[in-house]
Amino acid sequence: MGQVHVINHPLVQHKLTLMRQIETGAKDFRELLSEIATLMCYEVTRDLPMEEIEIETPICKCKSKIISGKKLGIVPILRAGLGMVDGFVSLIPTCRVGHIGLYRDPETHLPVEYYCKLPPDASERELIVVDPMLATGGSSCDAITMLKKRGCHNIKLVCLVGCPEGIKKVQETHPDVDIFIAAIDERLNENKYIVPGLGDAGDRIFGTK
Ligand code: PRP
Ligand code: URA
Repeated sequence: MGQVHVINHPLVQHKLTLMRQIETGAKDFRELLSEIATLMCYEVTRDLPMEEIEIETPICKCKSKIISGKKLGIVPILRAGLGMVDGFVSLIPTCRVGHIGLYRDPETHLPVEYYCKLPPDASERELIVVDPMLATGGSSCDAITMLKKRGCHNIKLVCLVGCPEGIKKVQETHPDVDIFIAAIDERLNENKYIVPGLGDAGDRIFGTK
């Protein structure tokens, strides 16, 4: 069973509270999401393997640690996942970015696939799927399935706000995937929105409502 890591760092929780508030506008919402993504990236990459190399400081030669050749990829689920990409890329400038396009059908609430573009060597990379919202879990599960169908098997999921239903679905469908999340809210409402949540993440990022 994949582990669930709740990132309850005070900076993350404070910024998330600001994002939840209805009066927070698109500019602040985007900036806060990007800042939280950077802070979460720090936790998500905690277990990257390291090696020691020989270097020379202005004082002497010594051994020092670097990340050991692990190739990473960030995969945002469009649209809202785009708001988390900069935060990761700012800390991991050599990572590649793939894109998965999914939207929830307004009637069925089921994800509909419309785009997938991955780096050519995606299957050799550790992939970090990012999406602020884990509601029914349908979009995250389908995105991970799309990656697995293309040979990718080393996958983590990073979300901002989730709920028990979405977490259960990911854990049951993809027991090999660890979830990193800032908050596990109470439940879904009749429209499958997270309660209390933060509303429609894509609309709040892009000002489309
Ligand atoms: C939102 C969100 C997730 C999905 C979560 O995207 O960004 O991708 O819903 O819901 P689920 O867990 O029930 O699948 P949406 O479908 O609204 O598309 P958008 O980001 O393009 O607005
Ligand atoms: N998508 C969102 O953007 N918000 C929710 O609460 C659920 C799905």
